[in-house]
Amino acid sequence: MFDVRPCADQEEFSRAVGAIGQYFNPPPSEEFLVDFNRVLPHERMHAGFENGVIVGGAGVFPFELSVPGGSLPCAGVTAVGVQPTHRRRGVLRAMMDAQLRDVHERGEPIAALWASEETIYGRFGYGLASWAGELKVSHEWDAFAEPLEPAGTARFVTAEEARELFPPVYERARQQRPGMLSRSKEWWEIRHLRHRDDEQNAPRRFIALDVDGETQAYAIYRTFFAFEGGLPGSRLVVREAVGATPEATAAIWRFLLDIDWMAVAEVPLAPPDHPLFLLLALPRRAGYRMHDSLWVRIVDIPAALSGRAYGEGGPLVFEVRDAICEWNEGRWKLEDGVCERTDAAPDLALDVSALGSAYLGAVSFTQLREVLRLEELRGGAVARADALFSWRPLPWCPEIF
Ligand SMILES: CC(C)(COP(=O)(O)OP(=O)(O)OC[C@H]1O[C@@H](n2cnc3c(N)ncnc32)[C@H](O)[C@@H]1OP(=O)(O)O)[C@@H](O)C(=O)NCCC(=O)NCCS
Repeated sequence: MFDVRPCADQEEFSRAVGAIGQYFNPPPSEEFLVDFNRVLPHERMHAGFENGVIVGGAGVFPFELSVPGGSLPCAGVTAVGVQPTHRRRGVLRAMMDAQLRDVHERGEPIAALWASEETIYGRFGYGLASWAGELKVSHEWDAFAEPLEPAGTARFVTAEEARELFPPVYERARQQRPGMLSRSKEWWEIRHLRHRDDEQNAPRRFIALDVDGETQAYAIYRTFFAFEGGLPGSRLVVREAVGATPEATAAIWRFLLDIDWMAVAEVPLAPPDHPLFLLLALPRRAGYRMHDSLWVRIVDIPAALSGRAYGEGGPLVFEVRDAICEWNEGRWKLEDGVCERTDAAPDLALDVSALGSAYLGAVSFTQLREVLRLEELRGGAVARADALFSWRPLPWCPEIF
């Protein structure tokens, strides 16, 4: 048996993070661990102990996640690892169990994560809830489908200026899309704006796009110089490009695609409804390949379901199975955007992981029924659930955490 508890201090924290750290090259440095602790308080890092020795770790970034029509406290699960000497002996299961109970006690109604492997987290009640993929836009195929007179003026800014200018733009975009996490000042600095030693050969560049005297879009990108056969062959890697309005978004993309010498612009983590799909005249050339993005775990059904907005539709009753969070088990009625326990006959029966999949609006109940992840107990219930839960735009989580 293993004991699992939150880390008591910085030293335990470092050893617990070290469980996943030894799968990385190089292992986490002292400097990394200090920074990591600034965005992940040590009491949010659970450690698995065997005879007093730490053999595993599982952490939570405490942030808010944008959900359809709102924003909720969310446990951003990260740094999950077990020493190879102790694998497949139940350490992960014990940590997941303790972590979910802790998240529930803290009043965070949802948890979310990026999975290193898709096969791990379904058993703990997480459902695949959003999609992403990389676009590779070659310079020769980067024309827009419609003529564009780009709005505004682009200018380089320093990291210090970006600290003031970028967060309001990001926050405006976050209010329009589910799946985006809130970012503290430390998060911006450590994750996005700081110049890193290992990027000195291709430093991050920061662009602000001003429209009507206000920054309405920004971009963070790196360029990798190459000339091949006498021709420009450089790559532009977009870390993030965000606009607060459709005009500013189109303009920042036109700016990025027009930079000279770039043979290709690489756009990772693009959601399936990324604006470039319709801005570009030849989106097929961008070779999109979709993969899973955020996985969502409903930790508190009434708080999570009452915390998002819905489309039109009457009351819907769910019968939910939850093998870990027993407080979620049973029947829940969703009516006028409020979810409460009920004795009424259920319309749908499903596992909490399927509800997590549907939560952000990217996976439909129709899809879930097609893959046998739910039972429709009353005719038309799946269609009614889709009308309620479906949401546009699709969720987008612009960073792996
Ligand atoms: C993934 C990892 C944390 C699993 O830890 P573990 O202690 O071996 O897992 P457990 O023994 O508690 O296994 C719990 C369950 O998960 C399953 N499982 C564990 N790792 C799995 C994997 N990589 N793929 C599929 N299933 C996995 C086990 O079979 C077991 O299933 P069951 O209880 O339903 O029969 C560990 O192998 C690891 O550290 N891997 C490298 C880092 C990593 O991928 N971390 C996840 C980051 S998102």
